[in-house]
Amino acid sequence: MVQPDLRAERRLQAAYALAASRYARWVAPRFRPLARDLLASPQPPLGPGLDVGSGTGAALAEWRRLVPGASLLAVDLTAEMLFCSSAAWRVAADAAALPLVDASFRTVISVFALHHLPDPGAALREWARVLASGGELRLATWGKSEPTLWDAFDHALADLGLSEGPRLAPRTHDAPDALRATAESAGFVAVDVVERLAAFAFRDVAAFWRWRTAFPGAARLLAELPAARRTAVRGALARRLAAWPAPLVSRHPVLFLRARRA
Ligand SMILES: C[S@@+](CC[C@H](N)C(=O)[O-])C[C@H]1O[C@@H](n2cnc3c(N)ncnc32)[C@H](O)[C@@H]1O
Repeated sequence: MVQPDLRAERRLQAAYALAASRYARWVAPRFRPLARDLLASPQPPLGPGLDVGSGTGAALAEWRRLVPGASLLAVDLTAEMLFCSSAAWRVAADAAALPLVDASFRTVISVFALHHLPDPGAALREWARVLASGGELRLATWGKSEPTLWDAFDHALADLGLSEGPRLAPRTHDAPDALRATAESAGFVAVDVVERLAAFAFRDVAAFWRWRTAFPGAARLLAELPAARRTAVRGALARRLAAWPAPLVSRHPVLFLRARRA
């Protein structure tokens, strides 16, 4: 078992706390169509349902729309993200240590949270624990990406000698085979993983800036910079994007996993 790096986890939590309201406004709506695809087919998942790493609640809102009246619980490490959610039931907790009884859900979902977890296998075992036998897991996580518009921000930072700093966890589950194998060892069967391409398009540099800086790493870095330095980052980004082929689109592979609890 991977020992949790509590300082790194606290840093991530603090960065999400800082980003929460801007994330709710500029990021979550762009994730909602992906959550809809995950939830709508082949048919909407059954409740009682749990959304782990629920954040500001984009996927739960979609789930409620698909299954009105379903009994749904949102769990997230960051209370500030949950404050921005409209979920009726919200619990601040770690994805790998859920304060929930065994076999209490028929479906667990998780959208773009697995890549933050230091030990995805331990988290998947925990999600299997709270699922009833035959219950369903649906998750979306980032696949392995080619350089894309997203990286223009990192390049602009590098132009000024800045960086967002290291990730909490290395991305060990951005390939379908690794994700499938970890889900199977965690007690899931009929594991199906498909890769999709998500494209996020922006009208102009300002729209891209709003989206990109509403993620936690960028939000934390910019909050620590004096105003003049923040303006310099924005200028460096505009210069980088002047050479970017129009339109402004960030393309990201996404892995969709569907599986059953044995
Ligand atoms: C990229 S956001 C995704 C939020 C939401 N699912 C969405 O699609 O908009 C990742 C979320 O995972 C949460 N998170 C990170 N590490 C976590 C952990 N160890 N346990 C529970 N939640 C965690 C963060 O607080 C954040 O809200």
